[in-house]
Amino acid sequence: MKSIASAPGKVILFGEHFVVYGTKAILCSIDKRITASSQFINEKKAIVKTVLGNKEVRLDELGNLDSISPKFLKPFFYIAYDALRRNSHDKGIELILESEIPHGVGLGSSSAACVAATASVNGLFKKLSKNEILKKSIEAEKTIFKHTSGADSAVSVFGGFLTYDTTSGFQELSFKNNFDLIIANSAQIHNTQRIVNQVKKFKEKNENLFNELCAKEDEIIKNAIHAFTENNLEKMGMLMSENQKLLEQIGVSTEKIRTLINEATKTAYGSKLTGAGGGGCIISLVDKNNTESTLANLRKLADCFVAKVDYDGMVYT
Ligand code: MEV
Repeated sequence: MKSIASAPGKVILFGEHFVVYGTKAILCSIDKRITASSQFINEKKAIVKTVLGNKEVRLDELGNLDSISPKFLKPFFYIAYDALRRNSHDKGIELILESEIPHGVGLGSSSAACVAATASVNGLFKKLSKNEILKKSIEAEKTIFKHTSGADSAVSVFGGFLTYDTTSGFQELSFKNNFDLIIANSAQIHNTQRIVNQVKKFKEKNENLFNELCAKEDEIIKNAIHAFTENNLEKMGMLMSENQKLLEQIGVSTEKIRTLINEATKTAYGSKLTGAGGGGCIISLVDKNNTESTLANLRKLADCFVAKVDYDGMVYT
């Protein structure tokens, strides 16, 4: 028997990094997925296969997570270990992950992989509720990314548009969606954990400034929620550009990102980096009046596509 589940990637419209320190973020999931397929095997091993690398670990060594290398595979062995232990099972497990989400560019591939793997592996025993999947996938991601806010996992589990903060969790954001988001990839691969640590150091050195920036982010998010409900694209675009200025101030933008944003804002309502930054992707807000012109301009500089919003979140197939 195979247990198969998939989960979408995401973009952060407002609030990345500041969400780690308690402000709200606004996110939506996109129509690019990771699919996880797992089955029991006769060998006493956990086998994980991904496009970025494969590994096998003997069941009696599974509890020793620190010895697992490469590190990015740790969450998947943690998921297998946790499921086997809780179900008092001693069968081997093979987990295969297939991805449509470009890796390391801010589109939530790591969280989507943890969500899909948690649902798939646990589904071999008993399908978990979405809330349980969220809790367990955040635990798994924390084995490699201690300070994750959990925002990416929340939107991957539930799909659609959400606001998220670390104290009250997520809330669905409902509004008339008559806009599109263009995603352009700077092709500068980043390491989320490293950039989040860099921001932590910035915060420790500039405590007052960082608090002021958090307050500004709070204000942007409040206005953005309002602009969303009114479907005011000019306002939303302007707020995205304001949010980008805060991200510039905490040092997570790059020259390539600035070049892409300058090009996008010639025609789009607004544009900003999305996710951890240090490269990765930008998002640009457009509608039928400026999608084609913005795409044509950005295509001269980067790979880009129009993202469709995913409303399903994690699904068993
Ligand atoms: C990464 O997609 C988003 C960050 O805010 C980190 C997090 O929320 O865990 C940079």
